[in-house]
Amino acid sequence: MIYADITGWGRCLPPAVLSNADIETLMDTSNEWIVSRTGIQERRISHVTNAELARVASTRALAAAGISAEQVDMIAFATSTPDECIPNTASILQNALGASNAAAVDINAACTGFVYSFNMMSDMIRAGSIKTALVVGSERLSSLMNWSLRESAILFGDGAGAIVLQASDNEAGFVAGKLGCVPDTRELLAVPDFGLDAIAQFRPLDVSIVFSGQEIFKKAVKGMGDACEAVVAEAGLGLDDLDLIIPHQANARIVEAVVRRIGGDMDKVVLTLDKYANTSTSSIPIALIEALEQGRVKPGMNILFTAFGAGLTWGASLLKWGERVTPLGETDISLPPTDKTGLDLINAAIARRQAYEQTN
Ligand code: UT7
Repeated sequence: MIYADITGWGRCLPPAVLSNADIETLMDTSNEWIVSRTGIQERRISHVTNAELARVASTRALAAAGISAEQVDMIAFATSTPDECIPNTASILQNALGASNAAAVDINAACTGFVYSFNMMSDMIRAGSIKTALVVGSERLSSLMNWSLRESAILFGDGAGAIVLQASDNEAGFVAGKLGCVPDTRELLAVPDFGLDAIAQFRPLDVSIVFSGQEIFKKAVKGMGDACEAVVAEAGLGLDDLDLIIPHQANARIVEAVVRRIGGDMDKVVLTLDKYANTSTSSIPIALIEALEQGRVKPGMNILFTAFGAGLTWGASLLKWGERVTPLGETDISLPPTDKTGLDLINAAIARRQAYEQTN
């Protein structure tokens, strides 16, 4: 039996912080509303590309696994905000890392992309088709925001997380997974002009997230709740056997509702959305790495991932952590410095959008 052990991990959070107080200067909202409805207090805003965030997180993950980029057989780059589509953003990362032996694929399942990628890459390793995978969740969601839409602009942040999966004889890694997509719900969460149809029709650029928050909320709780129950049952476990629950970090109230629905324990949940908000595909690896750094991950633990996103996609993964909870190696890689605050970066983006709208 081949297992797909998690042997390396790394994350990259850009330094510029955008607080709720900063957002109050941009739109009609309040810190009190944002904290009480979502749990979010601040988020990070990137001054570099998505692929650059991913490069730093991935380099840290490879160092933690103690392997070179040439040893990677496959890069799965989960993202909702690709820098480029043709060629894909995974190949930018492959080039930047020097991962010359790796296949490179972008995986778009919106915020569920990391769970999809983790399950798929684990299955490829378990089937024997590859030995080493780099699974990345990385987002520059700030570039997709319309800062005049308060219902969405407050929710998201930028960041990247990466893990290395390696074939192993040790009983560790992926145990069970469940993926799905709720039919007839595409319009609940969408970026309508973010694709070739809009370009083919020469529609003016109007890239904005539109969504029906409450409808998504209800479907997210059901989708994630069902997926969690399915993977726990498939693994032959009970809820008490779970040691850590690492959910997609969309909204603290959604997380609490899922945990309540499955009869889980909030003390076992890892929450980072107060500091980083919803970073889509990167929210689970960022939270996993935070738990590792805080010493919350112990050898042999049963860990549950669950996520939902536009589609509406949903999914869960159950895994058993291996023996090692500390990195094998470290790297001094970091992002290029910036003296810009989060608010500086967003005000510049707003000015660019206004200039574009005046000339089109
Ligand atoms: O990861 C996938 C992407 N994430 C999601 O899809 C998020 C899912 N949904 C949610 O997290 C929640 O539904 C939201 C946080 C988006 C909204 O929370 P809610 O408790 O469902 O609020 P609501 O949409 O029912 O809005 C309540 C009120 C409305 O005013 P009225 O109609 O009651 O007068 C909104 O206009 O809050 C108003 N509102 C705001 N007020 C201040 C909406 N956004 C804001 C805001 N600041 N930013």
